[in-house]
Amino acid sequence: MRSQILGTGHYLPAPVRTNDDIAKMVDTSDEWIRERTGIRERRIAPPEVQNSDMAAAAAKSALEAAGVAPSEVDLIIVATVTGDHLMPATAVLVQQKLGAPNCPAFDISAACAGFVYALTIADSFIATKRARRVVVVGVELLSRIVNWQDRGTCILFGDGAGAVVVGPQEDSSESASAVLGTSIHTDGSLAPSLIIPAGGTAKPVTSEILALAENKVFMRGQDIFKVAVKNLTSTCKEALTNGALDVEQVDWLCSHQANLRILDQVAARLGIAPEKVLTNIERVGNTSSASIPILLDENVRAGKIKKGHTVLMCGLGAGISWGSALIRL
Ligand code: ACO
Repeated sequence: MRSQILGTGHYLPAPVRTNDDIAKMVDTSDEWIRERTGIRERRIAPPEVQNSDMAAAAAKSALEAAGVAPSEVDLIIVATVTGDHLMPATAVLVQQKLGAPNCPAFDISAACAGFVYALTIADSFIATKRARRVVVVGVELLSRIVNWQDRGTCILFGDGAGAVVVGPQEDSSESASAVLGTSIHTDGSLAPSLIIPAGGTAKPVTSEILALAENKVFMRGQDIFKVAVKNLTSTCKEALTNGALDVEQVDWLCSHQANLRILDQVAARLGIAPEKVLTNIERVGNTSSASIPILLDENVRAGKIKKGHTVLMCGLGAGISWGSALIRL
């Protein structure tokens, strides 16, 4: 049995941090950030807002759009690398905030590929009839794990959440809404290139580690950039093959928003016209697991992505993990 997306939602915290704001904190400039990444500003959650608050707000909005009551939800999957706690999973806090009693709820960690991974899991639960109403959330509070003294990373990230509700396909005709094809991959050999070295069990936090900021994001940006274009292109081709569609049939490329230069190159290699490439990186930066569902929902609500449109989603991040999903809305 195929699955389909029944509704979408997102949440962005109100406070904006511009490139000029960051240029007061580290040696950088609005011009460098815009030219090298495409980012102008990003949202930063205020101290009282937690990851699970943003996730629950996005999930509520997706449930309303889908016309599904929280009591009908039978699985919650939260993709995040910035959960409220190391234990328990953020998904259990989201379950409580949604009022979705007794359904299983768990997190998955695949960084910027997290949403595609979570959607693939939801699709499998529905295909095997293990669930009928799955809430899939991508959420990140990256501003709290970024080293605000490292200009190589602090310019990139923002906070936010996006969500979809997934259910069994309601109509099995050729042109019906469906998750048409997915593809996920991991190459652990690049794990050291994008990592939070300390704070887990390998290196518990000490005052020395705090002084060295080893509990914050460390990234070799060039290492990731080099594989991103190649791997995102190949995973998109796999999702197209799995979904039995040609690239000409894709209405929108709704990719993870890491860098405009990566997006442009992936679209060019796939042969997707620039006007089909959706972006919001200039306003929200890189929100990791949250970026694809935020972009999806913004464009659904703006009326740009319409019922029947095919959308190709893809993401790559820490792991490195990458993947794609081809859907018809
Ligand atoms: N402002 C000014 N100069 C800077 C800045 C900055 N913010 N950051 C780096 N520089 C300097 C460097 O020091 C370097 O100077 P040097 O030549 O004197 O040594 C120069 O700019 C070039 O640095 P690079 O790191 O080579 O810059 P690059 O063009 O690669 O851009 C970036 C860096 C934007 C991080 C890019 O590599 C990138 O986007 N990488 C991919 C990131 C990604 O996709 N991550 C995965 C998702 S994130 C996740 O999973 C959580």
